Amino acid sequence: MHSPTASSLRWTGVFLLFTAFCSLFTPAVMVKHENFKTCDQSGFCKRNRAYADTITQSSHWKSPYDLDSKSITFENGQLSGTILKTVGKAGETVRLPLTVTFLESGTARVTLDEEKRQKGDIVLRHDSKARKERYNEASKWAIVGGLKISSGAALSRETEAGTTKVHYGPAGKYEAIIHHSPFSIKFKRDGETQIKFNDRGFMNMEHWRPKIEKPEPKEGEEQPLETAEVTGEDESTWWDETFGGNTDTKPRGPESVALDISFPGYEHVYGIPEHASKMSLKETRGGDGNYNEPYRLYNADVFEYELDSPMTLYGAIPFMQAHRKGSTVGVFWLNAAETWIDVVKSKSGSNPLSLGVKSAVDTQTHWISESGILDIFVLLGPTPKDISQTYGELTGFTAMPQQFAIAYHQCRWNYVTDQDVMDVDRRFDKHKIPYDVIWLDIEYTDGKKYFTWDPLTFPDPKKMHKQLQKRERKLVTIIDPHIKNTDKYNVVDELKSKGLAVKNKDGNDYEGWCWPGSSYWVDCFNPASITWWKTLFKYDSFKGTGPNTFIWNDMNEPSVFNGPETTMPKDNLHYGNWEHRDVHNLNGMTFHNATYDALLERKKGEVRRPFALTRSFFAGSQRIGAMWTGDNLAEWSHLAASIPMILNQGISGFPFAGADVGGFFGNPSKELLTRWYQAGAFYPFFRGHAHIDTRRREPYIPGSPYTEIITQALRLRYQLLPAWYTAFHEASTTGAPIVRPNFYVHPGDDKGFEIEDQLYIGSTGLLAKPVVAEGADSVSIYIADDQPYYDYFDYTTYSGAGHHTIKAPLEKIPLLMQGGHIIPRRDRPRRSSSLMKWDPFTLVVVLDKAGNAEGTLYVDDGETFDFEQGAYIHRRFQFDRATKALTSINIGGTGAKTAAWHKTMSKVRVEKVVIVGAPGEWKGKTEVVVSEEGAKESARKKKVEFTFHSAQGKKAAWAVVRDPKVAVGKGWKIDFS
Ligand SMILES: *[C@@H]1O[C@H](CO)[C@@H](O)[C@H](O)[C@H]1NC(C)=O
Repeated sequence: MHSPTASSLRWTGVFLLFTAFCSLFTPAVMVKHENFKTCDQSGFCKRNRAYADTITQSSHWKSPYDLDSKSITFENGQLSGTILKTVGKAGETVRLPLTVTFLESGTARVTLDEEKRQKGDIVLRHDSKARKERYNEASKWAIVGGLKISSGAALSRETEAGTTKVHYGPAGKYEAIIHHSPFSIKFKRDGETQIKFNDRGFMNMEHWRPKIEKPEPKEGEEQPLETAEVTGEDESTWWDETFGGNTDTKPRGPESVALDISFPGYEHVYGIPEHASKMSLKETRGGDGNYNEPYRLYNADVFEYELDSPMTLYGAIPFMQAHRKGSTVGVFWLNAAETWIDVVKSKSGSNPLSLGVKSAVDTQTHWISESGILDIFVLLGPTPKDISQTYGELTGFTAMPQQFAIAYHQCRWNYVTDQDVMDVDRRFDKHKIPYDVIWLDIEYTDGKKYFTWDPLTFPDPKKMHKQLQKRERKLVTIIDPHIKNTDKYNVVDELKSKGLAVKNKDGNDYEGWCWPGSSYWVDCFNPASITWWKTLFKYDSFKGTGPNTFIWNDMNEPSVFNGPETTMPKDNLHYGNWEHRDVHNLNGMTFHNATYDALLERKKGEVRRPFALTRSFFAGSQRIGAMWTGDNLAEWSHLAASIPMILNQGISGFPFAGADVGGFFGNPSKELLTRWYQAGAFYPFFRGHAHIDTRRREPYIPGSPYTEIITQALRLRYQLLPAWYTAFHEASTTGAPIVRPNFYVHPGDDKGFEIEDQLYIGSTGLLAKPVVAEGADSVSIYIADDQPYYDYFDYTTYSGAGHHTIKAPLEKIPLLMQGGHIIPRRDRPRRSSSLMKWDPFTLVVVLDKAGNAEGTLYVDDGETFDFEQGAYIHRRFQFDRATKALTSINIGGTGAKTAAWHKTMSKVRVEKVVIVGAPGEWKGKTEVVVSEEGAKESARKKKVEFTFHSAQGKKAAWAVVRDPKVAVGKGWKIDFS
């Protein structure tokens, strides 16, 4: 969910809200561009772009920012100094304190503040109660680690006038070369410049200045010149700005912060979600096939969003990486205010003969934020995995979800009664279709009052829970941040009496419109709000919920139907009197965070991993839960667009991502629905969802053969849950994406840097290419290396770098296994993932060219935090050509709960081993020898049945070891010699 459509508003009886939405009666599905600003309509963006244009067009431009050489100090891995910004003709300067901090991880952090605001030495207009400083608390929310200072960073002994050089990073191989006048920085690795700050001179920190009120011109007198005409600056958007009838009072005047960041020799940049755009970001300054608008980050409820667009969406991660053959670097622009990013590419200035692996193209970016301090992290890689790891150390890794959360979720707006929920549940069972979670959208509440149930439609939630519990299924209910302004509702009474609502610019509770009509918004920047929020989720407070209820946070951008750009006024005030302007992009994360904390404390002594889905997010949201890509459309183009969006989430540190399967708005054809399930089976977050105006489309609805084909896709997801869970574990410990684009897996393959329509699952070697075109009966899959790739289902072999055609009639999911991997599965079909807890495993050993393979498996209880005390199994399986043996090796640590968990799992075995690409010399072999650690003497070496299947045409030879009866948590060996 969702933005209101006319009919849904009618349905909910609050259609009086908005006459503007009447236009939605027209069938055309189109984003309302006029509701959202272009750069030209966003004063600070326009000013900074104009500034950049002036500089580009001038032949004698000198940036007015100089680092005062005398101010520089270097102590404990940190360089400090003052940048002087020259303003006006008289050489007057503004003082901007600078720090450059060198971290143990090899990351450099650059901050810049403004002394006058820092000291509170400014005057706010309109008697505003807002804080005077530039916002400096984004790191408080986003950063959880990785800040250890480098002990090795040191000033260079070489001295050059006007330059300061610092050696840092692993073995001191990184350098930061800080040029004083004008101020700029070059970051080098191995002697080569990777990233440049202010190379083009676009750096801009709009300093505080008082508004000079012009006297009213007297009758007959000539109009005095506008200040702008004297100074050449465009003042028109400095003091207030009106958009769509809303006026932003801007009590602190202009305060934007901007910088150009260049990546010499890098042709591709990725990241800065969330946009429905290409994974490899496009240029934004016009020209053939390029955008004319910068990428925008201003979390918003964009209704019926358009594809291939730099328009903002629901979440923001201001983290970008640049990639070329052999090198990946990144910048994390830690700012929570509205932000725009221009991207241009130009022919590299370097001598083409000396380029080596560098691209002949430079990428230049221009970052522009409305307010706040400048705070940038520079990551020098050199691999995509290094980037994920260092970024993850800073902002946190993906929270390890409960196992059910990575299985299939069934949602729609709305399952209308508790009987309806139970009926859907029964029909899944009747058709033997697995699912784990059923979801309730806003209509379950009593009149959109969260934490209540509609007494007519959901009279007996307990009974509903009881039925779901039979298959250990879960329920997710929606809880949004807008609290209905109504009588006899304890939640709103408490919100107001405790003073926990977001305030308007005058310091009174801000009132706006959302689903319930008139509403207030809980301000989760306030620690007291989190404390209060926790009380609302207790089982005796949110009656009718239990341990199997989880939460969905929607509309947390926040969405405000009558607010500017469907959100809050920027001059609203949050906890600490920070303006909404400063914290907007963090807002969704703070609400999601409060929900997570609340789920942890529903009942004393009950500790389960929370599950909370969010629509709005920021850097760090991965620590809390999952996201989805919001209100997409039931169209083939939206199915296709979901793949690059989800891949981009993964490389941007928030990989637990999915898109609404089937498309939110509209009715998918049966073919589209089927193909969407086949693609959704590869989304880390896998949920079917639909708008209230759509027809029912649960997997059992379309009928034969669609229902059977969808069921197969769901079963494939369940079969591969051990592989998915292992990939989640990897994400939660290394930051690696759960689904990975080609460049991430093959960073040296420059032909694959733009590939965004196929995905690798974790480190499993599974490569999926979902069908996203109507009527398609084949796909062209790209293989980057010279390993054999085998069809997952029939072992057809595809070898050789380049494109290969895979036949893909409706029932076929194009899925390959890269040689060299061992894939864990659970093959017994069950009705929910919880019911698979004690099922045996199958291992698929996929041999590489040389005849070797390896893979890992991570298993824990899928529910509690006991894994933090060692209650898990972590194995590496290895098939070695030389010794002709498959072995299982422990790679887990131990803790207080390890032994008990291993005991619990002692009966869970490996029931089958399949070897794909089996060597021909095994023909005629009928048994293999299995040995297990700790087995009784008599059973130490047992013979087990073996069958070999010769290659047939393109289908590889394969072999099966039938029931080796080895425990999955133990060390063992299968000898094929
Ligand atoms: C949520 O916010 C609180 C308060 O800032 C913090 O202590 C906690 O660690 C956050 N939770 C997560 C999961 O980041």
